[in-house]
Amino acid sequence: MNTKRFQDKVVLVTGGNSGIGKAAALAFSREGAKVVIAARREKEGAEAVNEIKSQGGQALFVKTDLRNADDINHLFGVIKEKYATLHCAFNNAGVYPKMKKAASYSVSEFDEIMNINVKSVWRCMKHEIALMTDAGGGSIVNCSSVAGWGGEPGTSLYTASKHAVIGLTRAAAVEFGRKKIRINAVCPGMTETPMLDQTLQSGGPEIRNVMLNMIPLGRFGKPQEIAGTVLFLCSDAASYITAKSIVVGGGQAIRA
Ligand SMILES: NC(=O)c1ccc[n+]([C@@H]2O[C@H](COP(=O)([O-])OP(=O)(O)OC[C@H]3O[C@@H](n4cnc5c(N)ncnc54)[C@H](OP(=O)(O)O)[C@@H]3O)[C@@H](O)[C@H]2O)c1
Repeated sequence: MNTKRFQDKVVLVTGGNSGIGKAAALAFSREGAKVVIAARREKEGAEAVNEIKSQGGQALFVKTDLRNADDINHLFGVIKEKYATLHCAFNNAGVYPKMKKAASYSVSEFDEIMNINVKSVWRCMKHEIALMTDAGGGSIVNCSSVAGWGGEPGTSLYTASKHAVIGLTRAAAVEFGRKKIRINAVCPGMTETPMLDQTLQSGGPEIRNVMLNMIPLGRFGKPQEIAGTVLFLCSDAASYITAKSIVVGGGQAIRA
């Protein structure tokens, strides 16, 4: 009996060349999916594809700057040409801006973070919903954060962007439920990826312990632990779950 949950399904993972996205791309592929990875860095994209192929899977990297509408149109053009359909999408790519107080950010910093963390998710969803409507259904998981639920000092724009991802997820899920498209969000806590490394490096010697003290499980998450929830949400085991945002954060308390 075939127990692979995503056998021959076409799955898009944005930001699938690093961190959480790469863990998800590898996990989907181990479960039989044909994985499309979209991100900017080609070397890391080729490495992710090679890892997938070396474990016997199928993957394709499409160089995409998700801030750019033409790149997104090209990405979905490639998916249509190669596979003609899309079953699941993990809209994961995102950035964590320099931490400062809300009043200190510039307009261009605001535009930059909203462009990648929110607008690109919405732009991808437009294409994904069209393909999944044609396919008779599908599942989308958007990457929010524990920052989508609360607020920590120094994170206002990131927090606003991740709240927006949850709002987009909830309203779109209500709109497209009758088309059999489920839309949920995953909300990682502090997870061991290059993004977290960058925060730890820029925060001074005490920051690691300060952050660990916020987590009841006493450790940072692993990208594979976030990927596990993404795969669950995309799978038939979650067939009655939509419009929800699930925190995977070791019990981290949500402040404010
Ligand atoms: N790590 C955490 O503690 C944590 C906690 C909560 C939420 N998250 C969220 O998890 C998601 C993944 O982050 P991560 O921790 O895995 O960080 P990461 O390793 O830095 O990965 C970020 C990914 O986003 C892609 N990306 C960024 N800007 C892009 C652009 N303009 N166009 C296309 N791709 C772009 C990057 O690829 P390229 O640079 O090659 O384009 C990379 O693959 C993000 O949405 C993040 O906000 C992370």
